Amino acid sequence: ETERTFVMVKPDGVQRGLVSDILDRFENRGLKIVGAKFMRLDRELAEAHYAEHEDKEFFEGLVDFITSGPVFAMVLDGQDATRQVRRMMGATDPAEAEPGTIRGDFGLDLGRNVIHGSDHEDEGANAREIELFFDDDELVDWDKID
Ligand code: CMP
Repeated sequence: ETERTFVMVKPDGVQRGLVSDILDRFENRGLKIVGAKFMRLDRELAEAHYAEHEDKEFFEGLVDFITSGPVFAMVLDGQDATRQVRRMMGATDPAEAEPGTIRGDFGLDLGRNVIHGSDHEDEGANAREIELFFDDDELVDWDKID
């Protein structure tokens, strides 16, 4: 059974022109784009998106960074999509990320780690993040296209 997962190229990735390379990787692996949006987050959306980190010392810096420029947000659909995307992104800290992963190939540091994907260990994360960024009518159901 397929599932949908939320992914976002962060401001550093957009600024460095990495969106097309990242999309290539996901499409080549067979993940389907069901929604995509080029946008700039306001503080309210950024704080809601990262609410689980609000007590951490890096929270303010994280919100500053993610609102600093445009992001490329998308919803991908595929078999085990959340876990596939996480494996392709690599570890949160680029220094720990395997070469060949997105963060392992492009990430600079813990903040500028190029991409965000929903946590597959957090049961509700996908649905919550998809809903936060996309209206229902902005997502396309490929199965219903003839
Ligand atoms: P992301 O997957 O977007 O989720 C939270 C983000 O916080 C994480 O990627 C990192 O980019 C960022 N971050 C900054 N500092 C830290 C830290 N000390 N530990 C974990 N995440 C951090």
